[in-house]
Amino acid sequence: MNSNQIKIAVIYQSKYGSTKRYAELIAQKLNAEVFSVHAFDASSIDSYSTVLFGSSVHIGKVKGIDFVKKNWNALSKKKVAVFASIGASKIEPKHQSVIHASLPVEIHQRIKYFPLPGAYNYSKLDFADKLLMNLGPRTNLRIRAWFKGDQKAKQQLAVFCQTQDWTNPEAINPIVDYIRMA
Ligand SMILES: Cc1cc2nc3c(=O)[nH]c(=O)nc-3n(C[C@H](O)[C@H](O)[C@H](O)COP(=O)(O)O)c2cc1C
Repeated sequence: MNSNQIKIAVIYQSKYGSTKRYAELIAQKLNAEVFSVHAFDASSIDSYSTVLFGSSVHIGKVKGIDFVKKNWNALSKKKVAVFASIGASKIEPKHQSVIHASLPVEIHQRIKYFPLPGAYNYSKLDFADKLLMNLGPRTNLRIRAWFKGDQKAKQQLAVFCQTQDWTNPEAINPIVDYIRMA
């Protein structure tokens, strides 16, 4: 396939906007078409040679990853990458475990996964997300901070209700390089 035939789709799902920003930046760099997953017509997948799916990590899994599962028949013939905004400032090897939890092995071993530093604004979360964040991460932090004296947990707890934006335009560079690779 020569470069004239390479047509790229960046399809994203984003509740609070950080993944949307990354999707638009990636599309701009790669000269790709960008769609919200809700507006994307899956019957048009065959007109793309490369597909990127982007979303956020939600309770340990890539939100909306069913898009990849449902369309795997068509996607399996293409170059596919998944990226996801996460609730952390620094990307570490352990963050790869999310894709293992999100997709069956026969699919995740065929795609490349890129976690990206996301953003978090407690005051803008809807009721259900606030509840989940309090029941899960905030309770864990409290246990670590109050009962185990964990200093890092104390610091995270102190800023839990503040806006935290770790997004970084340079974080997309490995994705862009991977897609440009023959
Ligand atoms: C209810 C809830 C659950 C979350 N679960 C996780 C998680 O398990 N792991 C993680 O790294 N980030 C988690 N996050 C953080 C989001 O992935 C992060 O805020 C992301 O940037 C949101 O993307 P968006 O702005 O495109 O919606 C969670 C956020 C919310 C609100």
